[in-house]
Amino acid sequence: MNARITGTGHYLPGSPIHNDDLPKELDTSHEWIHSHTGITNRHWASPEEACSDLALKASLKALENANCKAEEIDLILFSTVTPDFISFPASATLLQDKLGAPQAAAMDLNAACSGFVYALETAYAFIKAERYKKILVVGSEMLSRIVDWNDRSTCVLFGDGAGAVVVEADEKASPWFSALNARGKDAMALTRLQGGTLNPYKSGDVVDHGHFLAMDGKKVYLFAVSVLGETIQNLLKQSGLTVEDIDYIVPHQANSRIIEAVAARNKIPMEKFVLTIEDTGNTSSASIPIALDILIQKGEVKPGQRILLVGFGAGLTYGGTLLQW
Ligand code: UT7
Repeated sequence: MNARITGTGHYLPGSPIHNDDLPKELDTSHEWIHSHTGITNRHWASPEEACSDLALKASLKALENANCKAEEIDLILFSTVTPDFISFPASATLLQDKLGAPQAAAMDLNAACSGFVYALETAYAFIKAERYKKILVVGSEMLSRIVDWNDRSTCVLFGDGAGAVVVEADEKASPWFSALNARGKDAMALTRLQGGTLNPYKSGDVVDHGHFLAMDGKKVYLFAVSVLGETIQNLLKQSGLTVEDIDYIVPHQANSRIIEAVAARNKIPMEKFVLTIEDTGNTSSASIPIALDILIQKGEVKPGQRILLVGFGAGLTYGGTLLQW
């Protein structure tokens, strides 16, 4: 059995927040942020919203576009590093209830910014194994809740949002190619140290650096440029295709300079890359499905065209999927 994406959707909460509208105490500027990252705007969820609420809005659009009812979904795969609750219940089960899909199995998956690609491959494997026929794959994130608002080198980069796809069994679809990898030895380059079993919360704890996202930006930048190229080449080799055969590349949206460096090193025209970072910032595992939906909603993708999704993130993880629309 093969699989096909039958519907996509995304949701960006609230109005765009421009670089000029960031807190003045940050001592940053539109010029610095835009020239170093390509970001102009990001979105922040309202205090009443949680991660599963963003996921719900993206999922409803994906289901509508797939012409699929929530009651038909067999499995919900929810990729996030910013779940509603730190351990449990899983955000996937909260989404299952909000969607009205009591028949669906539901689980969270954390491979950080690569999480959507990992979840998509998990969905594909379940369909290949003929365990499930219709799977909802969601990437939903609220980075605004976990960044350190005293650290200008990270807090300006991230935003909130959600993207979702419906994956369905389809005998006539072409096989997908996939590459999932991790480099655990560099795990400490991107962390949120406090609150797990190594550093559990204690009564009287002061909320400080350990409670927030921390990143060795240069190390992650170099890693990203190297592994995005490696993953694209891996997928081309597996499929026996060349860059010319790929119509669109949808990369994790972390920094447009990373994508430009990957394009230059691998001799790939920039026009093939779908870029949405200017208006979203980095939305971690939501970034690929958001960019994919924006691409699909433009109506330019034709059946049979090839799309390559590729991501990297904390872990450090990386991976990609090459599929035919
Ligand atoms: O989703 C995966 C996770 N994230 C990533 O993929 C991010 C990967 N890394 C990057 O994209 C880049 O390394 C950053 C955008 C994070 C940083 O860009 P950079 O060109 O490597 O800047 P830098 O860290 O070398 O900093 C250069 C200067 C420093 O000042 P000095 O020491 O040269 O005086 C920083 O203090 O820029 C300063 N700086 C800022 N200035 C204004 C850092 N952040 C800011 C800021 N506004 N927001």
